[in-house]
Amino acid sequence: MNQPAAVPVDELSQAEAKSELAHLAFEIRYHDAAYYQKDSPAISDADYDQLRRRNSEIEARFPELKRADSPSERLGAPVADGFKKVRHSRPMLSLGNAFNEADVTDFLAGIARFLKLQDGNPIAVVAEPKIDGLSAALRYENGTFVQGATRGDGEVGEDITANLRTIGDIPQTIDGAGAVFEVRGEVFMSHAAFADLNRQQAAADKPEYANPRNAAAGSLRQLDPAITASRQLSFRAYAWGEVSSLPADTQSGVLEAMAAWGFKVQAHEICKSVTEMMAYHSAMEAGRSARAYDIDGIVYKVDRLDWQDRLGAASRSPRWAIAHKFAAEQAQTLVEDIDIQVGRTGKLTPVARLKPVTVGGVVVSNATLHNEDYIAEKNIRVGATVLVQRAGDVIPQVLEVVTPGPEPFVFPNACPACGADAVREEGEVDWRCGGGLTCVAQAVERLRHFVSRNAFDIEGLGEKQISAFHEAGVVEAPAHIFQLEDRIKIRGHAPLRDWEGWGETSADNLFAAIEEKRTISLDRLIFALGIRHVGQGNAKLLARRYENLANFEAALLPDNLEELLDIDGIGEKVAKALLAFFADSHNKVVWDMLVGELRVQDMERAAATSPVTGQTIVFTGTLEQTSRAEAKARAEALGAKVSGSVSAKTDLVVAGAAAGSKLKKAQALGVKVIDETEWLELSAIQAVNLEEETS
Ligand code: IVH
Repeated sequence: MNQPAAVPVDELSQAEAKSELAHLAFEIRYHDAAYYQKDSPAISDADYDQLRRRNSEIEARFPELKRADSPSERLGAPVADGFKKVRHSRPMLSLGNAFNEADVTDFLAGIARFLKLQDGNPIAVVAEPKIDGLSAALRYENGTFVQGATRGDGEVGEDITANLRTIGDIPQTIDGAGAVFEVRGEVFMSHAAFADLNRQQAAADKPEYANPRNAAAGSLRQLDPAITASRQLSFRAYAWGEVSSLPADTQSGVLEAMAAWGFKVQAHEICKSVTEMMAYHSAMEAGRSARAYDIDGIVYKVDRLDWQDRLGAASRSPRWAIAHKFAAEQAQTLVEDIDIQVGRTGKLTPVARLKPVTVGGVVVSNATLHNEDYIAEKNIRVGATVLVQRAGDVIPQVLEVVTPGPEPFVFPNACPACGADAVREEGEVDWRCGGGLTCVAQAVERLRHFVSRNAFDIEGLGEKQISAFHEAGVVEAPAHIFQLEDRIKIRGHAPLRDWEGWGETSADNLFAAIEEKRTISLDRLIFALGIRHVGQGNAKLLARRYENLANFEAALLPDNLEELLDIDGIGEKVAKALLAFFADSHNKVVWDMLVGELRVQDMERAAATSPVTGQTIVFTGTLEQTSRAEAKARAEALGAKVSGSVSAKTDLVVAGAAAGSKLKKAQALGVKVIDETEWLELSAIQAVNLEEETS
């Protein structure tokens, strides 16, 4: 955008300021719409931020001129379809877990060892509650909130700035934070707000949320920020990402500074020993159910930032922090009924319908009963009073029966969704529907899985849309997704843009998103099929082994079991499930239809980008941050060969703690040696590149 050289705000007359504010209000609204609704921004993010900053600066000098429709008050324009992606300038890590005193002791001992501290040199840690919500990153430039993002996968999150602007705990501007300061913290919903929201949902005949965490997540992911604004979300700051300078040299000091800038931070305590940490943990656990919001543990963080820097991170979590979890909370209630749900692969899962009961502040009304044996062993019957527990975001569990019910539960031998016979194979615990792809419950589930994030990841095509297309007879098999527009016509429906909940933009965006995914990597394609036992990891192993579609298809012949078993990491269950899937003629038709619509990318290209491709690597000594199996799998995934002994042919030795003769031999032969941390860094970086290459 070509802005005239701006007059410094200090030199603006009142009349000039008034006119410029009007101009800015119009301009920002225009760009919001272009960006959010049409998904085609007309100016760069930096230029846009500059407009907003200028607006805030003028308003700060002339508060009396602030317009009723001021962009600084107005929520960002509603997002039409999905959220923009944001790459975190520093990854958003997760935390390792401690469950007991021994784990906490290990955590401190590990730090002392790493920092080579003398015995008796105390490590001060900040202890504070771990909130059960969602983390968010808030970027401030020159004191103005310019962008907010979800954690996403830690590397790339979603731009939810407009929604975060609606949260009262998040200041729009802060003073004294320097050029760039990215505040990180937790967005969550209090129990009171959660109860309110569910009351409103029920009154409006809308589905209720299962717990405050889901409610907070659902509220943040609203495409219309006005809905988020109505949701009473809270925010607490506890960390930071990219910063141009830090206001203190301790964790507690930065918390204090963030509080002074207007953020809410949680009450925290400095502990100097395991005893103090355990005492804090016990006290907080005891007071847990009286709190206004869910906490699921305590986070300990090394107070000194120079130590945090030295400690750094191991794979996905920092060495200077850990989450010390609380034990699960429990309550008693009545089993009102036992329902059977049909899963994506036809598995029948019994679910207890419970008389609603509050467990640790959250109303629980369902619990999975896993399988027939679980019900029999625990003697769970309709009419029984049972003890249930909720552990973090794990689905509630029935622990034991307190008073038994009248009749034993008889597991049904037909699928409740399609009526087909259900079977329980010998040696298996689960009953399964035999209806395969013809069972409605499975078809929708299979399609939903097919378009899910780690599979085809088609934006704008979620469970709701899939169900609607399936119901309309438009999408019955995965291939139909790629013929969507034609099939809508063939089935005699109105064009998608005229369907309820759709418009021209969202329909066009969906068709474009589908087109984009016609090109897909082999591993995603394999994973997308939803074959039993073939998860993401196995799909990758298969794709890497066969490299391209033709080789993969050639390998799927019934007599090829041995060859599949030869792949390191592929066991008999997986190989058999894979062959059984492709032996089924119905599945084969579905597959052939599908690949006819796709361009399947070869895998070699991705592997070739790794600097360890084709190299022979030897792991020796004790790996402390990863398992041997994991290290081996990663190396192989990067195209390296892993060997057990060092020779002149070895390219790289990764030496863990207490490495012995192999390390000596490597040194004698002049083979390159790196330590575990260097390996993790090398392989993590490569893994990310590889992920991008193949996605
Ligand atoms: S510190 C690098 N402090 O827990 C570590 N995390 O399992 C940054 N969380 O993704 C996180 N309360 O969403 C930290 N007081 C707290 C927290 C907290 C909740 C969440 C956060 C993070 C997850 C890690």
